[in-house]
Amino acid sequence: MCGIMGYIGDGPAVPVIINGLSKLEYRGYDSAGLAVYQEHSLQISKKKGRLNELVEAMGDYPPTGLAIGHTRWATHGIPSDMNAHPHIDCSGRIALVHNGIIENYAGLRKELMLKGHDFVSETDTEVIAHLIEEYYQESLEEAVRESLKHLQGSFAIAVISAEEPDKIIAAKKDSPMVVGLGENENYLASDIPAILGKTNRVYIIEDREFVVLQKDMVSITDFDGRPIKKELFPINWDPIAAEKNGYDHFMLKEIHEQPAALRETLRGNIKDQVADLAHFNIDDIFADVKKIYIVACGTAYHAGLVGRWAIEKLARIPVETEIASEFRYRDVLWHPQSLMIVISQSGETADTMAVLREAKRNGIRVLAVTNVVGSAVSREADRVIYTHAGPEIAVASTKAYSTQLLIMYLLALHLARVRGTMPLNELKELTGELARIDGLAEKVFEQQNRIKEMAARHKDVQNTFFLGRGFDYAVAMEGALKLKEISYIHAEAYAAGELKHGPLALIYEGVPVLALITQDHLVEKTMSNIREVKARGAIVIAICKANLQESCQECDEQIILPDVNPILAPIVGVIPLQIFAYYMAIFRGADVDKPRNLAKSVTVE
Ligand code: F6R
Repeated sequence: MCGIMGYIGDGPAVPVIINGLSKLEYRGYDSAGLAVYQEHSLQISKKKGRLNELVEAMGDYPPTGLAIGHTRWATHGIPSDMNAHPHIDCSGRIALVHNGIIENYAGLRKELMLKGHDFVSETDTEVIAHLIEEYYQESLEEAVRESLKHLQGSFAIAVISAEEPDKIIAAKKDSPMVVGLGENENYLASDIPAILGKTNRVYIIEDREFVVLQKDMVSITDFDGRPIKKELFPINWDPIAAEKNGYDHFMLKEIHEQPAALRETLRGNIKDQVADLAHFNIDDIFADVKKIYIVACGTAYHAGLVGRWAIEKLARIPVETEIASEFRYRDVLWHPQSLMIVISQSGETADTMAVLREAKRNGIRVLAVTNVVGSAVSREADRVIYTHAGPEIAVASTKAYSTQLLIMYLLALHLARVRGTMPLNELKELTGELARIDGLAEKVFEQQNRIKEMAARHKDVQNTFFLGRGFDYAVAMEGALKLKEISYIHAEAYAAGELKHGPLALIYEGVPVLALITQDHLVEKTMSNIREVKARGAIVIAICKANLQESCQECDEQIILPDVNPILAPIVGVIPLQIFAYYMAIFRGADVDKPRNLAKSVTVE
C-alpha cells in the first residue's frame, strides 16, 4: 500500500501535493517524494522517512502548476532515498509514481537492461518508467498505453513528462484512484482524503480505466482508448472520517481491508494452480529440514499456531510453535537439521529479534514473515516472505494476522508440493480454495449488523470464554486476545476438551461462551463440551460454518460462516471475533485504536 497524488492547474502544485500526501500517510510512511515541472525539466525530491523529513530537506521549489507525489510503504526494496518514488527513466524526462505490485518486474527489468536501460533502485516500479521511455516517441499517452500491455500485477500510476507539461497520465488496475475536479485545476489521488477540502466533485476510477488529466479537462477511457462516461461521486465526509475512509476507527477499516490484503498477499504466489513460493528463494533452506521452530509474540504467535498445524498436516514436518519471550530463556535442544520461522508484523519486536539472533548464533537458518520491508527481522533473517497487508495503524492487529495465516498456508502447501506429501489433485483443490479465500472473507461482513447487535446485548459482562478444538482453538486464542486488549473485558480461551480439567469451575449463569465450530470431524466433540457449559448456565454463541449449522442448533446464538475447507477456516473464523471485540469496545466507550497500556510495536523486553 502506498499513496499517490497529482495536481495540474493554475496554482503552485507542490503545496497541494504535500498537503495531499499528508492525508495519505496512513497508506504508507517509510519514504516520500515528488516531481515538479520546471522549465522543460522535472525537479525530483525524495527521501527515506516521514513526509515532514522530505519537506525539511526540500528547500525552495518552483511555483509551477504540475507535480506528482508519493508516500511509500515498501514492497520491493528497503525504504531508502533511492527506492522512494517518483522513479524516472534514463533521460530524466519522465517521472512516475506507483501504488501496487508489478509481478513480472524481474523479467521486464532483464529485457530492458539488455536494451541498455540503467536501473538505480531495487523497486518493481522503476521498470514502468523505463518501459514508458522505450515506447515514448511523441505522445506520453500512447507510450503509457503501450506499456500497460506488458504489466502484470496491480497498479495505480501517475506519469508526467518534461516534454508535455500540460498533462498527467494515469491508469488503474487493482489499486485505488480518484480524480477530483476543480476550476482550472484538477487532482488525482489514491484516496478521497487527499483532495477533500479542495473539491467535492470526484470520479472514482475503476479497474482498467485510463485518465488524461489537464488543468481544464479530464478524459477517461478504457486501456484501449474507448471513452467511458462516469458519474460524479457525491462527497459529504468530514476530513477526519475521510482518512479512515469513512470508517469510525482504523481498526474497523483494517478489519474491512482484509479481503483486499489477502488478495495482495496471494498475488504472484500461486502458479499453475499450486502454491509456489520459490521466488522467495526458500527451497535451499528447507531442503534437509527435519524440524521447524515458529517463534513470535501475541497475535503473530497465534498465526504461528495455525502455521504449525498446517505445516504438520500438509507437509508432514514436525513444528514447535512458541512465544518468543519464553523461547529465548529456554535451554533449547536445537535439532541439528532445523529451521526457524519468525513472524512479526512490525519486524521490530524485541523478543522476536532476540530469538532470531539466538537461532543464528546456534547455526540455525531463519525465515522471517513480516509486513515491513527493511525492518530489523527482514534485515537479519536469512530469507524473508512479506505479507502485503499495508500499514496497520490500529494497535490491535487484524489484517496483519489474516495475511500471516495466508502465508502459513501458502508455505505449508508449497512445502507439501516440494516434498510430495500430498497428491497433486488434493493440493490443487486446497490451493484453489485458498485462492478464493478473499471472497469468502468478504461474505463474513454480511453478518456485521448481527454481530453488532450481539455485542450490544453482551456489552456489560465481566468475563467471557472462547472455546475451540484444533484450528479453532488457535482462533479462539486470537478472539480472546482481541476482546481483552480493546474492550478490557476478561477473556480466556480454552481448548474445548480441557474444560472439564479445571476451567469448567469458572462457568456461571449468564456468562458468554464463544465457541468456534468449523472443524467438521470435531463437531460432536465440541458440542459435548458446549453442553457442559450450557448445563452450568452459560450463554453460548456459536461461530459455525454454514454446513454445520444443524449441529449447532442447541447454541443460544449463531454467527454463520461461509462453507470453507476446515483447514482454511481460521481466515474467515477470526473476522466475526474481530468485529465482536470492536463493537464490545465501542459500546463500553473504549479507545479502540489506542488501547490503554499498549503500543503498536514492542521494542523493549
Ligand atoms: C495484538 C497485537 C500484538 C502483536 C505483538 C507482536 O493485537 O498486535 O499481540 O501481535 O506485539 O507484534 P509484531 O507482530 O509486530 O512482532
